Amino acid sequence: MLVESGSIVTNDILSDDVRCMVIQVPSIAAEAEPGQFVMVKNENGGTFLRRPFGIADVDREQGRILLIYRVAGKGTQELAGLEPTMELSVEGPLGGGFRFESDGLEAGGRTLLIGGGVGVAPMIYTARRLAELEPANKPVFLLGIRNEGELFWQDYLKDFTEEIIVTTNDGSAGIKGFAIDAMPEILSRYDIRHIKICGPTIMMEGLAKLAMEQGIECQVSLEKRMACGVGVCLGCTFEGMISGKRWKICHDGPVFPAEEVFEK
Ligand SMILES: Cc1cc2nc3c(=O)[nH]c(=O)nc-3n(C[C@H](O)[C@H](O)[C@H](O)COP(=O)(O)OP(=O)(O)OC[C@H]3O[C@@H](n4cnc5c(N)ncnc54)[C@H](O)[C@@H]3O)c2cc1C
Ligand code: FES
Repeated sequence: MLVESGSIVTNDILSDDVRCMVIQVPSIAAEAEPGQFVMVKNENGGTFLRRPFGIADVDREQGRILLIYRVAGKGTQELAGLEPTMELSVEGPLGGGFRFESDGLEAGGRTLLIGGGVGVAPMIYTARRLAELEPANKPVFLLGIRNEGELFWQDYLKDFTEEIIVTTNDGSAGIKGFAIDAMPEILSRYDIRHIKICGPTIMMEGLAKLAMEQGIECQVSLEKRMACGVGVCLGCTFEGMISGKRWKICHDGPVFPAEEVFEK
């Protein structure tokens, strides 16, 4: 884990409340794995605590990372106002990322990646990794968004995925409904053996339960307000369903096996 002073390369608008920021942080970019996150601080800003963001993508050659963030409150509002060449303090890469077949998962079948809201961000780098590991067996992506105004995610995902299935709450694009509504069709068309999810807890819970019922290996990436991000403040803990252990999301996660997080 490093603390690096990062120069902002771009900070662009993707939708009314979502921004994408590229930061020059060569040491962090060299080590970052899919599913890990960084804690960011604007040293000239008005917030005391760092803010956590999933690493949306990495360009190791250029030494850059991509963050995609929703303007939620004071810290992210300040981030949205920053210009290229300005500096940010970036701590990371933090936590453990997603596990792949190269980490001992059973081989075979296809992986389904599911992203909801800004939880799609860390799934971009995850999709890139899977596509690099198995170019002939790219992941299928289930993209759960509010409306057609959030279709910009597809531009980041299309090169690394076999197919992107979209659900929108209002039916303005793709299937009208929630991500889980698309599952019967996906499971009937693909031999899905692994599922990786990042999104709102309520969305992940339904999908994880379905995966567990079907006997599909499933990992979920959790989000909780984080004060320290490095396992010191104990503000981000939860009790594991199977192990009974008190896990720290920032240090032991943010990715966990579904069965350790949600009741079957
Ligand atoms: C591991 C991790 C990865 C994350 N990755 C991303 C990402 O890739 N893109 C992204 O847009 N956001 C991400 N978040 C959420 C992001 O950290 C918060 O939105 C941000 O810290 C809000 O800061 P703020 O000062 O703008 O808002 P605040 O003024 O601190 O809060 C504004 C509102 O956001 C809520 N909020 C604040 N922090 C969180 C949180 N951690 N989870 C849920 N709600 C929160 C508050 O309850 C409040 O309602 C991630 C969070 C975690 C823990
Ligand atoms: S945020 Fe402090 S222990 Fe996780």
